[in-house]
Amino acid sequence: MIKIYVVIGVSGSGKTTIGKLLADRLEIPFQDADDFHPESNKAKMARGEALGDNDREPWLQALAEALKRLYEKGGGVLACSALKEQYREQLCAQLPEGISGKPMQPQWIVLHGEKQLIATRLKNRGNHFFDPLLLESQWDTWEFPNYGWFMDIQRTTESLVNEFLALSHKKASLGVIGLGTMGQGLARNLGRNQYSLALFNRSTPTEQQVAVRCVSSFPELTHARPFDDLFSFIEALEKPRKILLMVSAGAAVDELIRQLQPRLETGDVLLECGNSHFEETAERVRELESHGIHFLGVGVSGGAQGALEGPAIMPGGSKKGYDVVEHILLDMAARDPQGRPCCAYVGPEGAGHFVKMVHNGIEYAEMQLLAECYGLVRFGAGWSVEEVQKLFMSWLETAERSYLLEITIDILGFKDPEDANTLLLDQIADQASQKGTGGWSTTAALNLGQPFGIISESVMARYLSAQKELRVELSKSVPRSVAGIEIDHEQLFNTYQSVRRLNHAQGFALIQKAAQTFGWAIDPAVLARIWSAGCIIRSTFMERLESMLRENSEDLLQQHAILAILTKNDSDFRNLVSQTLQHGLPMPVSSAALNYWLGLGQANSAAHLIQAQRDYFGAHGYQRKDDPTGQLFYTLWNSN
Ligand code: 6PG
Repeated sequence: MIKIYVVIGVSGSGKTTIGKLLADRLEIPFQDADDFHPESNKAKMARGEALGDNDREPWLQALAEALKRLYEKGGGVLACSALKEQYREQLCAQLPEGISGKPMQPQWIVLHGEKQLIATRLKNRGNHFFDPLLLESQWDTWEFPNYGWFMDIQRTTESLVNEFLALSHKKASLGVIGLGTMGQGLARNLGRNQYSLALFNRSTPTEQQVAVRCVSSFPELTHARPFDDLFSFIEALEKPRKILLMVSAGAAVDELIRQLQPRLETGDVLLECGNSHFEETAERVRELESHGIHFLGVGVSGGAQGALEGPAIMPGGSKKGYDVVEHILLDMAARDPQGRPCCAYVGPEGAGHFVKMVHNGIEYAEMQLLAECYGLVRFGAGWSVEEVQKLFMSWLETAERSYLLEITIDILGFKDPEDANTLLLDQIADQASQKGTGGWSTTAALNLGQPFGIISESVMARYLSAQKELRVELSKSVPRSVAGIEIDHEQLFNTYQSVRRLNHAQGFALIQKAAQTFGWAIDPAVLARIWSAGCIIRSTFMERLESMLRENSEDLLQQHAILAILTKNDSDFRNLVSQTLQHGLPMPVSSAALNYWLGLGQANSAAHLIQAQRDYFGAHGYQRKDDPTGQLFYTLWNSN
């Protein structure tokens, strides 16, 4: 792999000395950015005048070309102040494109130290055109990068270069397999946290050298070691090996484990971070533990941005494995409003992936609810998109702020890049896809015997949306105008508030039921806490939920604050949903939530008829109200 090193820092920090020594040791060419200044810049600096962006422009242009030449010749070292992020970008502008679509990145070596020490060095440096007084301006201009290899210039040049060369060949503390969007984000997050990384991505006929391109694309990864051979990757890791897998859930995970397992040793830890099914995870935990390998099924939420800036992390599986990697996961995680990491060990077996699956179920219903509110106001009441956006923005000012509401507001203002007069949303086909987690949570609810109508309706609503042809056909046979609905803002807001509470209640109840059934000690307050930042369902409600559950870990529907809102909103909720349905506009999630809420409020239901019917045709038996023993009674309903 071609290596370009750029040693950066303010004038006087020792870039030339360190750069030259490094180039000597690596036997590659060295270049000094000072040699590229036009005479006018040198004279300006000698007069004690600071250079501005305009003065630096032609210099950076010449340096970008020099860097490109070094690259073409197979590598080299450049010493250059590169004070600002913008200058560093200009420097790389002529390097080949990396995986990010931006120019590839050199290995940045960042020199830093006390201002006084640098000032003294500058004073003692004879015959140099730089006026020591300019240090002030350099110091103010310097934007400290959050990437690169940092060298404290208090130490000797020899020791800094020796350490750099030794450590950059040292075994990596952590490996990442799978460098798609999420894997790249997690690797960069780890790079920002100063972990020494080995990166692996398999090569396919269409995708070659992904890891190499990744390393040279992102400044945080320039000291990571790229591999496209799995076994060299494993060899490059310190023991016990810690390997994070971020590949598609399912067969790809099994295939990787099949290849890795014979090369791993007792005590090594695998962290599988995709959206895997919790039962598959439990099986992998069992199987790998029998070989002494600790397997963790780690729920990771937050999308691409979360992976990079800090996701919510839900690890489950081997506790021994968790103890080995806890510090890494805590470093990577988002911070909650109190500054604590959004990560906690959830439980053994597939507990981590179970809660991530339910997180996604709640996410599906929250998304569908926002779509229902938007659809009602835009298509039912005929509001403009701007008006809908304003309405949602007003909700942000309330206690209902959430990440999904925020992104919805952004989407409602986003123009089609192809046509600035059109909303991009209006160009998107109305058929929702899914990768499965919402459906899995519905299946889990069925298996565990839990009411889950809200989330399951959100899954079904996506399936129904996908039946476009049938919808188009039937809309001709049953023409229906849904326009003309009068919206009462408060009723809509109150409905939104109630559905959210019932949705979260069903999700949390399913997790509690699973915890009881499988013997997992899941603290719902901890879950609410780690979901209060980083993840897709983060919201101010989730933050309040944490404090409620910390006081009292009862079911959400036993919480006074939640019940008070549901009771206050009761008639608005009923009126809004029934009025909308009456107008012919579907509200699958809102009406499922309303049915759940109404069902919960019925002390006596019509279910006795079901029991009678079951006994009538199948002699299934029923319990009697007047018999406290709970025994079954049978009746011969029909003598035929
Ligand atoms: C998250 C998301 C993430 C992903 C889902 C979407 O928490 O970061 O849930 O995991 O967006 O896989 O799933 P669907 O494709 O099923 O909507």
